Amino acid sequence: MSEPARVAVIGAGYVGLTTGACLAAMGHQVVCADIDEGRVAQLCSGRVPFHEPGLPSMVGQGLDSGRLSFVVDSTAAAAGADLVFLCLPTPTLPDGSVNMRLVKKVAAQIGPHLRGGAVVVTKSTVPMGSSRIVAEVLGRPDVGVVSNPEFLREGTAVDDFMNPDRVVIGAEDRAAAAKVAALYESLPAPILVTDPGSAELIKYATNAFLATKLSFVNAVAAIGEEVGADIAAVLAGMGADPRVGANFMQPGPGWGGSCLPKDSRALVALAAGAGYDFPLLRGAIAQNDDQFDRIVGKVAGRVALDGARIGLLGLAFKAGTDDTRASPALEIARRLVAFGAEVRAYDPVVTAVDTAGVIVEFDPYDACRGAGAVVVATEWPELADLDPARMAEVMAGLHVIDARGILDRDAWQNCGFTYQGIGRR
Ligand SMILES: NC(=O)c1ccc[n+]([C@@H]2O[C@H](COP(=O)([O-])OP(=O)(O)OC[C@H]3O[C@@H](n4cnc5c(N)ncnc54)[C@H](O)[C@@H]3O)[C@@H](O)[C@H]2O)c1
Repeated sequence: MSEPARVAVIGAGYVGLTTGACLAAMGHQVVCADIDEGRVAQLCSGRVPFHEPGLPSMVGQGLDSGRLSFVVDSTAAAAGADLVFLCLPTPTLPDGSVNMRLVKKVAAQIGPHLRGGAVVVTKSTVPMGSSRIVAEVLGRPDVGVVSNPEFLREGTAVDDFMNPDRVVIGAEDRAAAAKVAALYESLPAPILVTDPGSAELIKYATNAFLATKLSFVNAVAAIGEEVGADIAAVLAGMGADPRVGANFMQPGPGWGGSCLPKDSRALVALAAGAGYDFPLLRGAIAQNDDQFDRIVGKVAGRVALDGARIGLLGLAFKAGTDDTRASPALEIARRLVAFGAEVRAYDPVVTAVDTAGVIVEFDPYDACRGAGAVVVATEWPELADLDPARMAEVMAGLHVIDARGILDRDAWQNCGFTYQGIGRR
């Protein structure tokens, strides 16, 4: 391995904390900075402020080894580093474009204090052309700027970071690219070095493609429901063709999370800004919005929503995380509430949400008590183990909408439930 590097990570969220902890585990000296003082205090005592399997032990090991530390002061962290990773939020503006305010703000803040020859690495998902903007804001011709988009998935973030499918590095400055590539040399993954704009587009195009794939699968499932085909059989047949592939082909309640919706909308906006209309991607986004309505329609087909109580199992946007950003479960809950329903929800790790009309219970049976129907919105394995006989005792109406396809349909039907899946005969 090349010499351990001095690394600063700015922004200790899902991406930044995973990056910092993993780089420390790989032998580098890492300081993570975050503006949130409470978060930094928690991390200093080894507590990870969100649910991410494997991350708490890695943070603990990093602290114990002395190779991982946490501070509030981003400028001081960056001033001592050879490589500075920007892992800051890049939220969506109302027109779908990307809000670069925090990336620019931090670049302006740290620029004057960086060591000569340091490299600033953007791991946040940022539009094509951002490397040039970061370089301008830094105002430091002696500092390299590299785009290194992150592809980790929440729920498997540590494993994804340590075993990536590929590492993408975009830079005009080949020496700066080589410094970043050296960090990853021990990982079992190809390192793709491109120009910065291509690296940035790889990230958006990947997420937009995945979103489109899921919308396509959900559309095929909807057709299957109309014509009496079984989506499981259809997808197995499609996925057997290696050009299609069997991965990421699960029908569901619609896609969500902190990345796919934001990045898909951003690519539509970026394309429009470049003079390219992207009806395919706009269609995938619209299909996803329809998917939430389809789930609500399945409930409404069984229960008069106005005044009804509906049980909602799962709040996280997918299993393995406590992230509810753009969660399909919450999208569906909001729409049920808009029709006058009261939603009582349960999730194994999400214990509170700020969504009007949604009450979070600590027990799945309590969430379904008195409910006219129950919707399974997140694919937590423990939800598959719920006892339908016990559910039948507590619920007012025996209707289940299994939007993740995880329940044993026969077992629920044998307990008197009507069962609706996605694309199931
Ligand atoms: N979450 C994912 O699965 C994922 C995957 C790949 C890429 N990304 C991208 O990575 C970026 C970060 O995403 P995330 O999910 O880790 O975000 P996050 O919200 O979990 O974390 C961001 C962190 O930055 C901190 N922060 C905000 N302003 C700051 C400032 N001025 N100085 C220092 N710290 C500041 C916040 O307190 C927070 O802890 C985004 O661009 C996102 O699109 C996210």
